[in-house]
Amino acid sequence: MNIDSDRLWRSISALAEVGAYTDEATGLVGVNRLALTDADRDGRRLVKKWFEEAGLDVRVDRIGNVIGRRAGKEDVAPVMSGSHIDSVPTGGAFDGALGVLGALEVVRALNDRGLATRRPIEIGFFTDEEGARFGTDMLGSATAVGRLALDDALALTDRDDLTVGGELERIGFKGDAPERLAPPHAYVEVHIEQGPILAANGRDLGVVTGVQAISWQEVTIVGKSAHAGTTPMSLRRDAGLAAARINLHLMEMIQSGKYGGDMRATMGQIDVAPNRVNIVPSRVVCTVDLRNPYDDLMTKAERDLAAFLEHLAAQMGVEITARQTARTASVEFAGRIVDLLERNMTAADLNHERILSGAGHDAQELASLCPTAMIFVPGLYDGISHNPRELSTQEACANGVSMLYEALVALADEP
Ligand code: GLV
Ligand code: MN
Ligand code: MN
Repeated sequence: MNIDSDRLWRSISALAEVGAYTDEATGLVGVNRLALTDADRDGRRLVKKWFEEAGLDVRVDRIGNVIGRRAGKEDVAPVMSGSHIDSVPTGGAFDGALGVLGALEVVRALNDRGLATRRPIEIGFFTDEEGARFGTDMLGSATAVGRLALDDALALTDRDDLTVGGELERIGFKGDAPERLAPPHAYVEVHIEQGPILAANGRDLGVVTGVQAISWQEVTIVGKSAHAGTTPMSLRRDAGLAAARINLHLMEMIQSGKYGGDMRATMGQIDVAPNRVNIVPSRVVCTVDLRNPYDDLMTKAERDLAAFLEHLAAQMGVEITARQTARTASVEFAGRIVDLLERNMTAADLNHERILSGAGHDAQELASLCPTAMIFVPGLYDGISHNPRELSTQEACANGVSMLYEALVALADEP
């Protein structure tokens, strides 16, 4: 094999110990490396050290992205790969980490062979891909490609009003390299699928053709707190009930079929105040996550939801405001890279299919700068992810990284 499967697996296992926690309900060991926490800092230090030990010239940019460069025979646009090492608070060992450590394994394998490529190869990990702490996903990569302004990104706050900029300083990862990336020659990222399709179809790997549109909103509902025993139902302005009705409405939108068969909607966060058994809730802050492969259907869903919120506020006598915290259009990856990946998988006798990504990825940001595509590795247990059960096999991961090796080497030798 072109890469060292055992070394890759050891790296994944070692990084998974950073931020490891035991899920009380299941007893499973998961990963909590929420962006810019102490655990993320420790993970960053470890992977940065591995980058340096692999002989890479490492830079940390002003949004905390860490990028290692392996020089090419010529000083031309590099071929890039990477992903993220932050996790959701209830994550697993593979989401993001596979892409970063897979890219590192490619560099290590090239070093073992003493192989030089024409183009430089740059590998990296981007800050807060998950968005689970500061509310905006793909934060580092979106800033690197210029979709988000640096100052806006640094000013984002978490639930405790701590800023991205302040937390980067605190953990020692506020670098001084310019955050804007010059367009690479190409970008390829390997990632676990995080879904059930590849395993169900008996595939070794997936070739990702693009990423669906993502829309995140934070919805604030202000009603009036009141005594649960004495306040007649007709006189209430119950923010909790309004949140429940919004959540139900999302399900009705899906069931209507008006937004296509693949639309998804989730109210993942609901903060109720005062949050007591005998008080009508006065205030709710909740989130809405919408996904749709089609931009026009996504826009229609957003518009219809806004109209519903207005109608509900008037009907229930509550105030409802919605703030968009993240929004990305659907992204189509480069046909030429998709074709290259497919050809390589066929040549390696790896069973594969084309697949659209349901999750957001750093690759979708890089796609605005250069020809980009991704490789998906199937997971176990229906590909469950954002969950401590997230699991893949050494063989599946090695297959994905082996195809990453082939792609990066071919692209790095292009004129
Ligand atoms: C990123 O993991 C997402 O929410 O898709
Ligand atoms: Mn990820
Ligand atoms: Mn994720």
